[in-house]
Amino acid sequence: MEYDFSGKVALITGAASGMGKLTGENVIAAGGKVIAIDITPIEETDSLCYANCDVRDYAQIDAAVKRGIERFGRIDFLCNFAGGDGIRILQGVRDFATVDPAILGWEIDVNLRAQLWFARAVMPYMVEQKSGVILNVGSIAGLKACGGSVGYSSAKAGAIFGLTKSLAQYGGPRGIRVNCISPGPVLTRAAMANMKTLLGRAAEPQEIVDLVMYLLSDKSSFCTGSNFTIDGGHVCLH
Ligand SMILES: NC(=O)c1ccc[n+]([C@@H]2O[C@H](COP(=O)([O-])OP(=O)(O)OC[C@H]3O[C@@H](n4cnc5c(N)ncnc54)[C@H](O)[C@@H]3O)[C@@H](O)[C@H]2O)c1
Repeated sequence: MEYDFSGKVALITGAASGMGKLTGENVIAAGGKVIAIDITPIEETDSLCYANCDVRDYAQIDAAVKRGIERFGRIDFLCNFAGGDGIRILQGVRDFATVDPAILGWEIDVNLRAQLWFARAVMPYMVEQKSGVILNVGSIAGLKACGGSVGYSSAKAGAIFGLTKSLAQYGGPRGIRVNCISPGPVLTRAAMANMKTLLGRAAEPQEIVDLVMYLLSDKSSFCTGSNFTIDGGHVCLH
C-alpha cells in the first residue's frame, strides 16, 4: 500500500461525485475513515459516515462536523471539493453585464465561503489534536483571467491565495498544514476533454487524487501555504 491512513479520518465535501468521491475511495482503500458531505445522499458503510449538508449554510456545516466527530471521534484531513462553475451548474448566461447576481453569489458562497467556513468548523478539533491537514480546491480559473466566469474565478483566486496562505500561517505553529490544488481540465465531465493543455489531453481524476493523497500524507510534511497547479501545462498556453 502506497499510503497508510489507518486511524485517520478525512472530512470531504462534494463527496458524492467526481474528485471528492474518488478521494474518499482512495482514503478508505488506504485504511482511513471518511466523513462524506454533500447535498446528494451517499450510502453509509463502516468506514463512511454521510452528513447531508448544504455548504452555503454554517449551521448545517457545524451539525455535519459534529455528526462526523460523534461517529469517528476526530478529523485529520479536510478536503474542500464542493464547488463548480455556477454559470454552468445553474445554467446562467456567461455575459457579465447580464448574469444573474444570485449566480455570482452562489459561486462565492460554494467555492470560497464554504471552504473558509469548513476550516473554521474543523479547526478546534485540529488545534486540540495539534495536527491536521487542510486541502483547499482552487482551479486554473483562479490563476488566470476568465472573463466568462468572473465569479468562479474570483472565488477560486480567494481560495488559492488569501484563504490558503492565511490559514497556513495560523495553522503552522499549531501543527496544521494547509495547501491548495488548482486543477486544469479533469474528466469528471466529458466536456473537459475540449480544453487545451500542453500535454494534449485532460486529466484522469485519479491523476489529481494522486496529488491529493500525497498532500494529505506525511510524505508532504514540509508543504504548507502553497498552491499546487496540476493542469498539464494549461496556464503556460496563456
Ligand atoms: N472538473 C474539473 O475540470 C475541475 C477543474 C478545476 C477545478 N475543479 C474543482 O474541483 C472541485 C470538484 O470538481 P468535480 O468536477 O470533481 O466536481 P463534481 O461536480 O463531480 O462534484 C461536486 C460535488 O459538490 C456537490 N455540491 C455542489 N454544491 C453543493 C452544496 N451547496 N453543498 C454541498 N455539496 C455541494 C455536488 O452535489 C457534487 O457531488 C470543484 O470545486 C471544482 O470547482 C474541477
